[in-house]
Amino acid sequence: MTDNDLSRIKELRAEIRKHNVAYYESDSPSISDEEWDHMMRELRNLEAKYPDAYDPSSPTNNVGGTPSQIFAPVQHSVPMMSLDNAFDDIELDQWIKKIDRRLTSSAAIDEFCCELKFDGLAISIRYENGKLVQAATRGDGSIGEDVTHNVLTIRDIPKFIKDAPQLLEVRGEVYLRISEFEKLNMKAKQLGEKAYVNPRNAAAGSIRQKNSSVAAQRNLSFWAYQIGRISGGPDLKSHFGTLEYLSSLGFPVNQNAERVTSGKHGLRAYINEYRLKKSNFDYEFDGIVIKVDSLKIQEELGSTAKAPRWALAFKLPPEEQTTKLLDIEVSIGAAGSATPFARLEPVFVGGVTVSTATLHNEDQVREKDVRPGDTVIVRRAGEVIPEVVGPVLDKRPNDLPQWKFPKSCPSCSDELSRPDGEARHRCTNYYCPRQVRGRVEHFAQRTAMDIEHLGEQTIDLFVTEGLINDVGDLYTLDFHKIQSFEGFGETSVSNLELAIESSKSKTLGNLIFGLSIPHVGRTNADLLAVSFKHLDSLIEASLDELEAIEGLGPVIASSVFNYFKEPKHRELIEKFRSAGVNFVGPVLEETDNTLQGKVIVVTGTLQGFSRDQIAEAITSRGGKSPGSVSGKTSALIVGSNPGGSKLKKAEELGIPILDESGFQNLLKSGEIN
Ligand code: IVH
Repeated sequence: MTDNDLSRIKELRAEIRKHNVAYYESDSPSISDEEWDHMMRELRNLEAKYPDAYDPSSPTNNVGGTPSQIFAPVQHSVPMMSLDNAFDDIELDQWIKKIDRRLTSSAAIDEFCCELKFDGLAISIRYENGKLVQAATRGDGSIGEDVTHNVLTIRDIPKFIKDAPQLLEVRGEVYLRISEFEKLNMKAKQLGEKAYVNPRNAAAGSIRQKNSSVAAQRNLSFWAYQIGRISGGPDLKSHFGTLEYLSSLGFPVNQNAERVTSGKHGLRAYINEYRLKKSNFDYEFDGIVIKVDSLKIQEELGSTAKAPRWALAFKLPPEEQTTKLLDIEVSIGAAGSATPFARLEPVFVGGVTVSTATLHNEDQVREKDVRPGDTVIVRRAGEVIPEVVGPVLDKRPNDLPQWKFPKSCPSCSDELSRPDGEARHRCTNYYCPRQVRGRVEHFAQRTAMDIEHLGEQTIDLFVTEGLINDVGDLYTLDFHKIQSFEGFGETSVSNLELAIESSKSKTLGNLIFGLSIPHVGRTNADLLAVSFKHLDSLIEASLDELEAIEGLGPVIASSVFNYFKEPKHRELIEKFRSAGVNFVGPVLEETDNTLQGKVIVVTGTLQGFSRDQIAEAITSRGGKSPGSVSGKTSALIVGSNPGGSKLKKAEELGIPILDESGFQNLLKSGEIN
């Protein structure tokens, strides 16, 4: 063993012990759960590597805190164990393999129960002949603290149960709803008291109060998830059955628990579903607990000193992290809007590594008062784009200057101005290279003119070389010249030429969308194409005519009107006209009965189709498009921000899953592949 490793082991043990005291005994954590998990993990790995460094008092051999002396100690008749963790699919697979190998029977375990890992405080409640007689915290796993007086104040928890077994020890989580936590902290703020850092610590702080009137005011809640001991009760066979039984006795059991019978795909689907939905709940959970459903198999698998082998906590990625704000820069959009964004020291949050986050506009930066050099909290919940929540003021270096919106465009150095009444700054130079690049990228994207072989770098090069000043110039590109550029062979140039040529026959909706008219998205572009049927009619439309279109708001109507009033936009249209770009719309696609008899379900948003268009595309080809997945479903199309339940069900039923391009193929060929 190297000296370095040994001193690291010692250092980790000491650090973790210190944090454990802060967490378990003072209800005031000094580091985030993620940091704690990582330190524990590093220590475990090192201890596994160096068995000689074994120390029975290492934090890895202890479940958690030592019981405090304030409350009477309670010896748990059955220890309250911890759970082993998994952080990714590989570790989940390893766990499944490991338990399958341990079983004497040859069949693999095919029934699991998945539930949420609530972020609260574990409690064991003892009932004798239906009467609540004692409630205790977990403590160190074998001895906890008597907190009966506080648990009696929790409305969710039955004090008497009918048709009860002689003895019942129910285990579960005491927690504080997020809404209650916010109320509590609001009150603390008004009274000038210290706020709780999170609902879990507020719940723990409330349960460990001598005076039960405090807990009574906090509106704590409870989820039951386990039976510690039972005698004189029914013959329970499964964990899911246990949950149903607890619910029948009047205990609050979380409704998201599910039996999963489709192996690891089903487990992953459950995890994925709740990862995405995590922020929709009024209570916090930081993982998914997977339990072997059969109680007989649970017994056969048994436990290690710390944790049962039949259960696993799959930790969900943290949604908030702190990192360094390296700088605030400004990006210029296709229509000239200047958006400040944070350049961050890369940080893993919400399941991805984040190195930039939008700051929206000047007012938001001022409101949040984030400054380059600050340590900031970054949040990414579900599939939502990362945001900077605010600075950690304790960590702000002295004399850190406030950030000021730059006066000039980072791309063309023209003035950045903020029109009256608007939140956004703008670069007003229509030929600003960033704007041109943004417009060309937008124009060329798949849901607009779909010009392949025109990537970011190529666009950049064409703009810098002065070949393109607006999107119209794409149709008069000098391909001979391009062929002389480094990296452009004959094939790549002719591919590009072909792609540009074929874009000329795109639908009018694609063309209108490709123009980067402020506020005009794909759906509105199609609406304009259908309503005016020719680009020339749209150009000449009066504001009244535009406003009269059902479904087109006044802001969009005037944006379209103003766009076509601009001489430079008229010139652009003329470039398209001379090139022979299609101005006629709507061009209905041929609809053979390619989907006859097929049942196609869609979840999430597709870029090229509105909801109605999806349904129309399917039904006009003889298919059906119901709202939910069943055994009859032929394929599930998954767009962005999909709903977890459809995806999960399709995975469980083994239904083919296609993305948007698979859907396009399906429409054309009727084939699912
Ligand atoms: S079962 C023997 N189920 O996680 C296993 N625990 O790390 C007993 N927790 O102390 C635990 N949600 O505080 C179980 N649905 C759930 C849970 C859950 C949260 C907590 C509990 C326990 C800790 C173990």
